[in-house]
Amino acid sequence: MPIKRVGVVGFGLMGSGIAQVCAQAGYETVIREVGQPLLDKGFGRVDSSLARVVKSGKMTEQDAKTARGRMRGTTALEDLKDCDLVIEAVIEEMGPKKEVFGTLDRICPDTTIFVSNTSSLTIVEMATSTKRPDRFAGLHFFSPAQIMPLVEIVQALTTSEETVATLRTFVTSLGKTGVVCKDTPGFIVNRLLVPYLLGAIRALEQGVATVEEIDTAVKLGLRHPMGPFELIDYTGLDINLHVANVFFDEFKDPSVAPPALLKRMVLAGRLGVKVGRGFYEYDEKGQKKPSTPTK
Ligand code: 3HC
Repeated sequence: MPIKRVGVVGFGLMGSGIAQVCAQAGYETVIREVGQPLLDKGFGRVDSSLARVVKSGKMTEQDAKTARGRMRGTTALEDLKDCDLVIEAVIEEMGPKKEVFGTLDRICPDTTIFVSNTSSLTIVEMATSTKRPDRFAGLHFFSPAQIMPLVEIVQALTTSEETVATLRTFVTSLGKTGVVCKDTPGFIVNRLLVPYLLGAIRALEQGVATVEEIDTAVKLGLRHPMGPFELIDYTGLDINLHVANVFFDEFKDPSVAPPALLKRMVLAGRLGVKVGRGFYEYDEKGQKKPSTPTK
C-alpha cells in the first residue's frame, strides 16, 4: 500500500528532523509528543532548520511554508489512527517503546506499518508488543536527519519482504539512500562507529593525546567532518553510554565496554552539546567555545 500520511512519535532531536524530512517530501505528517511544551520545542527546532535551508538557497520560502503546513502536532496517540506509516523516535528504552507500539496497535488499521528509529535496541522485541510483526521494521536515520543521506532499513526475522519493499520506496521518496540490514545491535553504522568512539575515549584515558589532538588527527588524517569527541558531544554522551551498555550486554566484548570516563562524565551531567558541556563547552547556540577541552 502506498504511504500518504506519516505519524512520528517523539519530537526530540531525531523526531523533529525525521518529521521535517517527511513533510518536505510531501507527506502529511502528524507528530505526537507527551505535552504542549515539548511540541513547541520541536516546532521551534523545525522552524530554525527550515530557515537555515531557505537561507542556504536550497528551498524557497514558499516551499518551506508549505512543508511546515503539512506538519501537525498532537498529544494524543489516537490522532495517528489514519497514518500509513508510524515512525517511533521516543526515549531509547525498550519499555516505553513497547508501550507506544502496543497502544498504536489497537488504534491503527492492520495495514499501517510500524518502524522504530532505535539505534541499538532489538526490533523483533518491539514487534512482540503488536499483532503485526510482519509489518514492523527499523528505520534508522542519522543526525542531523535533515541532511544525512543514509537510512538503515532494519529487517527483523519477522519483517515481510513486502514491508521492506514499501520502506525502500518510502526512503527513496525522502531523497535518502536506504540500505537493508539485519536486526543486530547497532545495525551497520553503529556497529562500526561505537567501538571507534569508545576507543577514542580509552586513548584519552591512557594519555595518548588530548581531546583536541585526537579530534584534529581524525579530521585531517581521515577527512571525517567531526573528530570522535565532537561527534560524541553532538550525539550525546548519555546516548553513547546507553549504546555501549547494550553492545556489551550482547557481545561481552571488552572493545565495547563503557569506558570509566564516559560513565563518570554522564554522572557529572556533561551530556554534550545539548547541555552546553561534554568534552568541550558550547554556547547557547550550540557553537563550540574556544575553551580548554576536558583532559
Ligand atoms: N537543518 C538544516 N540544515 C542543516 C542542519 C539542520 N539541522 N545542520 C546543518 N545543516 C546544513 C547547513 O545549513 C549547511 O548547509 P549549506 O552548506 O547549504 O550552507 C550544511 O548543512 C553544513 O552545515 P554547517 O556549514 O553548519 O557545518 P558543517 O559543514 O560543519 O557540517 C555537519 C555540520 C553536517 C553536522 C557535519 O559536521 C557532519 O556531517 N558531521 C557528522 C555527522 C554525523 O556523523 N552524523 C551521524 C551521527 S551517528 C547517528 O546519528 C546515529 C545515532 O544512532 C547516534
